[in-house]
Amino acid sequence: MGPETTAQAQQCEAPKQKLHGRAFYESIGSPKYIVAPMVDQSEYAWRILTRSFLSPSENAKLLAYTPMFHARLFADTQKYRDSHFQATREPLLPPGSVPPVTTPFLDGNPSTDRPLFVQFCANDPDALLAAARIVAPHCDAVDLNLGCPQGIARKGHYGAFLQEDQQLIYKLINTLHVNLEIPVTAKIRILETREATLAYAKNVLAAGASILTVHGRRREQKGHLTGVADWEMIRWLREQLPKETVMFANGNVLEHGDVEECLERTGVDGVMSAEGNLSNPGIFAAPPEVGQKERGYWRGRDGKGGWRVDEVMRRYLDIVYGALGREVKKRRELFVPGGEEGWLEEAVELPEAVRKGEQPPKKKKREEVAKGDEAVMRSPNVGGMQAHLFNLLRHLVSVHTDVRDALARVRMGDLETFEAILALVEQKVARGLLEYEHTNGESIAEYLKVAPVEGVPDQESSVGTLRRCKRPWWVVQPIIRPLPVEALAKGAIRPTKKEEKRKEAEAKRKARAEQNGNIVPKSDEAKITEERVNALKRKTSFTESELVSG
Ligand SMILES: Cc1cc2nc3c(=O)[nH]c(=O)nc-3n(C[C@H](O)[C@H](O)[C@H](O)COP(=O)(O)O)c2cc1C
Repeated sequence: MGPETTAQAQQCEAPKQKLHGRAFYESIGSPKYIVAPMVDQSEYAWRILTRSFLSPSENAKLLAYTPMFHARLFADTQKYRDSHFQATREPLLPPGSVPPVTTPFLDGNPSTDRPLFVQFCANDPDALLAAARIVAPHCDAVDLNLGCPQGIARKGHYGAFLQEDQQLIYKLINTLHVNLEIPVTAKIRILETREATLAYAKNVLAAGASILTVHGRRREQKGHLTGVADWEMIRWLREQLPKETVMFANGNVLEHGDVEECLERTGVDGVMSAEGNLSNPGIFAAPPEVGQKERGYWRGRDGKGGWRVDEVMRRYLDIVYGALGREVKKRRELFVPGGEEGWLEEAVELPEAVRKGEQPPKKKKREEVAKGDEAVMRSPNVGGMQAHLFNLLRHLVSVHTDVRDALARVRMGDLETFEAILALVEQKVARGLLEYEHTNGESIAEYLKVAPVEGVPDQESSVGTLRRCKRPWWVVQPIIRPLPVEALAKGAIRPTKKEEKRKEAEAKRKARAEQNGNIVPKSDEAKITEERVNALKRKTSFTESELVSG
């Protein structure tokens, strides 16, 4: 952890002038690499891990978002705040509370965790403002989540389910724009048409958003239907909006090269990555130069490489220990072929319950596992460990199922077992590297083969992406989902009855119209979309200068 400064010192400084739009963006260093907001996954330890791969000049260009917090819970509940956002060593209190002096701790610490945007979901402007005011001294902007497509957001009426209520969206953003001492930003998904999305974007900007993030997928595009994000639509929006508008693009960024490509193809200011970042926290960093001594980065005989999973897992665990105030482990130098191999024969001790796995693990409470360690019990950096490691080790565990079993059985906060799993991972990687050397790279040839999906032409499938991105299991690499058409071919998804009926009706209607020599009438869907576009246009006619200044 970096040195601490006290808020007392900060309070002596003159109050900062509130900047907006591009002036604000430039004031935080014009970041172009953006760590996406991710529930339970873009917490402090993960953000620091991502930063650890960057050179100082790259680091100056990185902006991170916190996970989405629920505004009302955050504003009202001390326990919720304590377990999600540790900005100060003392409990985080609403403005005006006594005592007012707080010591920076982890989240938003000026020496380690900036620039940082805190994201909330909300549907009540007052609750959003109350929550935003608590975090404002500890971050650079507050972001409104307008993209969450999950069932919980539908139930709670937030995220992407506010799309139909543009007036409420305006009110939420504008309340922060007018009343909060720091800027407000927003993250949206695209709508069915370009025009509807443009009207939506204009509404968000006119309400006062300083930065607009566009996730190039529609609300329906989740799970097996995720598919490819629409960069063309983002480029088109970029061209339609005033030049001064600050925009981030989100979606389809799987590896480092995609970041620059996305910047180029969309023309935006910054590129946000979520899943690509989770499977490779080094995604924003340029790979080390060939010949540069870097044990943690592996390069194959074909010149392709990546960060080694054992290196990444070591770094991650050490950062978590640091965040918990524990001593960082003394570790043996990372193994490379030619190094001492005696340790490869050492037995790794896993707890009996994890090793045997005869029955499913008892659901022990975190308190029990943490053995009274307060820091572990209330840390927001502990809950996401298992999911993080599954993302990092996804390819390794497909080969080494004993690691997968151990990771599946580890209990939240059981740091000793995570450490034992690391020892296992280190041995697997070392053996994999030795075998690769002894076989002249042949040991991995079969693993690297990519089979086409039956019934789906290569150009319509994810096969090309897999061929481009696939690496040996000992390096971190993207998790490539099958495209919806592949998921259909594999039977993982089926069209809903409603969709099948709609398609049938559509086909009949077309056939009838063609038979009668008529122009094909618009489908109900197209009519609905058109109505929505018009409704949005009615609500949102703004002048260019309004858009620039919000
Ligand atoms: C584990 C996970 C958690 C997420 N949580 C949030 C969130 O809290 N707020 C949000 O706006 N989006 C959230 N998202 C969506 C991402 O921010 C991003 O918009 C989406 O994954 C598309 O980007 P990608 O193609 O780089 O993954 C989450 C995504 C993932 C994978």
